[in-house]
Amino acid sequence: MVENLSGIKGLTPDEVKRYLKSAKRFIKDQKPYCPPSFSDALRGKTIALLFFEPSTRTRASFEIAAKNLGANTVFVGSENTSIQKGESIYDTCMNLVAMGVDLIVLRQNNEALLHEICFRVPVPIVNAGNGMGEHPTQALLDALTLLDALGRPQTLRGINISIIGDISHSRVARSEVYIFAKLGATVTIGGPTECLPFESWQAHVAMNRRDAIRDADAVVCLRVQKERLGSEKDQDRSSDSVSNRITHFRDHGSPAVGAWSINARVVETEMKKNAFILHPGPVIWGEELSEEVGQSSRSLILRQAGFGVAVRQAVLLELLGV
Ligand code: NCD
Repeated sequence: MVENLSGIKGLTPDEVKRYLKSAKRFIKDQKPYCPPSFSDALRGKTIALLFFEPSTRTRASFEIAAKNLGANTVFVGSENTSIQKGESIYDTCMNLVAMGVDLIVLRQNNEALLHEICFRVPVPIVNAGNGMGEHPTQALLDALTLLDALGRPQTLRGINISIIGDISHSRVARSEVYIFAKLGATVTIGGPTECLPFESWQAHVAMNRRDAIRDADAVVCLRVQKERLGSEKDQDRSSDSVSNRITHFRDHGSPAVGAWSINARVVETEMKKNAFILHPGPVIWGEELSEEVGQSSRSLILRQAGFGVAVRQAVLLELLGV
């Protein structure tokens, strides 16, 4: 059976910890690192990077990770490829496998399609974001960054983490709630009502910023996923709150995140003294977060980007059985 990484939901806490332990080897002085003994670990392997949605950090760090380990990479996006002629993502994957590709990193906007691809394509698939589904390597790198900053080896027991902003449209929020809960943290989510999930998550819900961040040891800020507002998932449901949400998006456009945004005054008056700030990027400065806070010593944002390389090195090695 081919091993895939489709999400955090299906992993046991021990499996999560195994990835984190493996990734930890690839950090030195809070920066990503590839020991010389690993520089040929994936020599002869070819990794395909299939990105049918925009990406900067995820795509670049997978490519850097693969190359650090000696692998070849091939990038396929939606522009100038046969996807534009109507070829399916499954057919694209199978043709790449026929060419000798050993592993596929896949970002695309259909939640369910990922599972079909994992089932039918005979090489490991790493989910690099499936619409509003999951983004497991982002969650792993966020957990790794936080554990490192807190000086903890493997558990977040006793730690309060708040995720605020656009929760319902965010695959990062979904994967983070799974991973932080599996590592023992207490998780709170909060954001404008129209950006809260309909289904119940393994997290407390806060209805205003002050309540959300007051006890937090770490706050993850998320941008409004404008590209997903009013999407099928928003429209699929028939409850009152859904029609309110659709009306809201139609009448007001983007939800107001102002009441949830974090600036120096908020940090000073509403947050714990040593609480950390995380953000998966891209940050829309001035909306969810001020630049001043983003550049302050409590911000782990650029460390997250660097740790992404370490996590992706660990994931590629694990799934290729090295
Ligand atoms: C996130 C994503 O694509 O889901 N970004 C990322 O991978 N670093 C979050 C986002 O786009 O806001």
